[in-house]
Amino acid sequence: MNKKAKKIAKTLRKIHRKGKLPEDDVMDALLGIQIEKVEDKIPLPELVRQYGVKHRIYQGDNPYFYIHRLFEKLEPYRPEKILDLGSGCGRVLFYGALLWEEVDFYGVEMIPQRVKATNKWIKKLGLDSVQCFQGDATKKKDALPVVDCICIMNSFFPYVLPKALKRLKKHAKKNPFLLVTVSTGNLFIAEQDWLEEVYFGAPAKDEFDFRFFWACG
Ligand SMILES: C[S@@+](CC[C@H](N)C(=O)[O-])C[C@H]1O[C@@H](n2cnc3c(N)ncnc32)[C@H](O)[C@@H]1O
Repeated sequence: MNKKAKKIAKTLRKIHRKGKLPEDDVMDALLGIQIEKVEDKIPLPELVRQYGVKHRIYQGDNPYFYIHRLFEKLEPYRPEKILDLGSGCGRVLFYGALLWEEVDFYGVEMIPQRVKATNKWIKKLGLDSVQCFQGDATKKKDALPVVDCICIMNSFFPYVLPKALKRLKKHAKKNPFLLVTVSTGNLFIAEQDWLEEVYFGAPAKDEFDFRFFWACG
């Protein structure tokens, strides 16, 4: 982490502790990431032509109040390595890496423009603890990093989610992890017999509907 990132991290930790987050564009600017500019340049019709309509590729990064809550919820567990599956332009990765310096963060994201932007900002902030890869979470050929926590922050439509979970089930047999999910998809995920719901820290269910599962295949 370079000097500039260390300064940003100090401010972010204060904001995180107080829980009073400014608007998302202000947070992006604080973290030094220009998501809006990148998203504006992604040609959606071209994405549809290339990937079809089955993947949830149109929704960009989650609002920061969600991401703030994610890290509040993860605090009692404190994973060592976190993968954001469908990492968008990296809000989770940057927020996390600046908040928790000792944790390694990984992103896998399907849309190359988002990966390129994420990697550019990783370099700019000198964040050795963050890596982002281009890949489709459902495809065997696209490697999944070995981690102890995987987040699915609303990344898959119902057609794709079973495929991604099938892959994660196999992955979990060798590399068990905590699976964090949110919002749509939660009900389907909770039905999987290879996942065991876990509760720790604050009540597991609240208005954000974060859920935690132990995944060991
Ligand atoms: C709702 S955004 C979440 C972004 C980020 N995780 C966050 O919480 O801010 C979902 C992301 O998943 C990506 N995505 C959708 N299907 C995917 C797939 N099969 N493999 C990898 N990424 C995918 C989309 O392109 C999009 O950037």
